[in-house]
Formats: sequence, structure tokens, C-alpha cells
Amino acid sequence: MMNQKIQDAFNGQVNAELFSSYLYLSMAAYFESQNLKGMAHWMQIQAQEEHMHAMKFFDFINECGARVALTQIGTPKTEWGSPLEVFEDSCKHESKVTGLINDLVELSLVEKDHAANAFLQWFVTEQVEEEAAAQEIRDKLKLVSDNPVALFMIDQELGQRAAPGAPTG
Ligand code: FEO
Repeated sequence: MMNQKIQDAFNGQVNAELFSSYLYLSMAAYFESQNLKGMAHWMQIQAQEEHMHAMKFFDFINECGARVALTQIGTPKTEWGSPLEVFEDSCKHESKVTGLINDLVELSLVEKDHAANAFLQWFVTEQVEEEAAAQEIRDKLKLVSDNPVALFMIDQELGQRAAPGAPTG
């Protein structure tokens, strides 16, 4: 059985993951406005992943017999100065989410909720991947600077991202 502190914190994370989804969708809308279809596609897939993260928390709270309580989702930023700025924000955002997950892990230890702690381990690993993916793209964009041909190639590459759960290879 989940105690009230864990329940409230997990509900907070449902909101944080839904906000992440909303933020990445806003980034997708920005890329659409810049005609960078590949980057827009990458961000749409990322938004889907974040929704999946929110649903993992949603399902776990329910499985524990606790109560999901949805709260208002914040308004994401809508304008950026360049693709590099978007991915710099994405890196900062993922680092913040990693901090939130780590706080939940700490709380699960303090509250001696071993089920919550085991559940959170997937997210600990996932955050390493999330940060690495955003950093890799940010670093490529830094390298190419304003070179339009290189930017076009990165856009093409990001357009290949498979949907979550899609078969690869
Ligand atoms: Fe759900 Fe990108 O962290």
C-alpha cells in the first residue's frame, strides 16, 4: 500500500511527465513552423514517449490501490531562436527531470517503499538515455553551427526516429 507522501509525489510526477510531453509537442510545433520536418517528427515521438512515462506512473499508482489526481499542466515555451536553442532547452529539461526522479528514489528509501523503489529503477536508467540522446543532438548542432546543408542532413537523420515500441532494423 502506498503512503500519502509517495502518492502525492507520484501524482506530481504524472504532471511533470505530461508537462514534458506538452513541452516537446511545443518544440515540434516550433520545428514545423521552421519547416524542419525531421526535427518536428523527432519531437513528436519524444512527446509520445513522455506520455508513456506519465502512463507508467498512472498505472503504478492505480495498481498500488492509490488514487491518481490530475492537476493543471503548465504552459510550455513556444518560441526559440534556433534548433540549437531548442536542444539546449531539451538537455536542461531532461537534467531537471533526472533530479525529480532522483528525489523520488530518495523518498522511496526514506519511506521504506520497496515496490516504489523497484518501479523507479526503470526511470533511473531511462533518464541516462534521455539525457544522452538530447546531448548528442545538441552537440551535433553545435558542430554544424549555421551550415544549412549540415542542418538539412541532421533534419533528415532525426526524421528517421522510430515510434516508441516500433520494431527496429
Ligand atoms: Fe520522462 Fe524525458 O523524461
